[in-house]
Amino acid sequence: MGEQVPRGLAELARGSRTVTVLSGAGMSAESGVPTFRDAQSGLWERYDAAALATPEAWLADAALVWGWYQWRRSLVRACEPNAGHRALARWARLADVRIVTQNVDDLHERAGSAVLAHLHGDLFASRCDTCGQEAHGAEPGPEVAQDGRTPPPRCECGGLVRPGVVWFGEALPPDAFEAGMRSVLDSHLVVVVGTSGLVQPAALLPDIALRSGIPVVEINPGPTPLSTDVDVSWRAPAAVALPALIEALG
Ligand code: OAD
Repeated sequence: MGEQVPRGLAELARGSRTVTVLSGAGMSAESGVPTFRDAQSGLWERYDAAALATPEAWLADAALVWGWYQWRRSLVRACEPNAGHRALARWARLADVRIVTQNVDDLHERAGSAVLAHLHGDLFASRCDTCGQEAHGAEPGPEVAQDGRTPPPRCECGGLVRPGVVWFGEALPPDAFEAGMRSVLDSHLVVVVGTSGLVQPAALLPDIALRSGIPVVEINPGPTPLSTDVDVSWRAPAAVALPALIEALG
């Protein structure tokens, strides 16, 4: 296996009947889904967030935004859950593991996990931007035009069908954050994996655990603002660390 589980972590995890896992883009990195902020490979290094992931961008150029989300949908469709996703699904057979994710992909679900909350929405959901009705049409469709634009479908009411994700400046899906917070407060252990911890309010969840005396483990190959505060900072990739941890549970 190769990866050494940090001292005491296997015992801590074994003794935790209820676990909340807060995952971010790094969770899916080894599946081939780009993160947002990693130098070189991060999406926000290559694309302008304000031009693609804001309500203003949608109003200015809905076809450009829809085309970009169609591209991201086909990218995720071509990816498979990695060993980290699968390890979390196995852990759920041993303990009450609740997954709270910032990811809009469906790789946790495809690995067999039930996701408690998708804090930033769902890449494969869509709804009308006018009447709010859930809509179909979020499957990767025909080829995106050369200039990246794909006109979004129209709702029966005449509005445009928009991606069911949270854009900068928008509120989280109703109850998602609260469900995450309740789960954290209910947990014996919180595992934070693959997130830079820079986006609120998701980044509050580990802080809530720490302030409540609940042990927090961070799994991330790089340092984050959380690294110095957590009980265990494990500098390792998700698809290596999580299988090693679950194997160590016995
Ligand atoms: P970021 O791109 O900000 O951070 C990704 C984190 O994953 C970094 O800390 C990396 O070090 C870490 N990482 C990279 N490879 C990894 C691996 N193999 N295993 C474990 N960790 C790895 O992504 P998020 O923190 O998820 O929101 O970003 C939060 C939100 O910002 C996203 O949900 C998205 C974005 O804007 C919206 O779109 C609303």
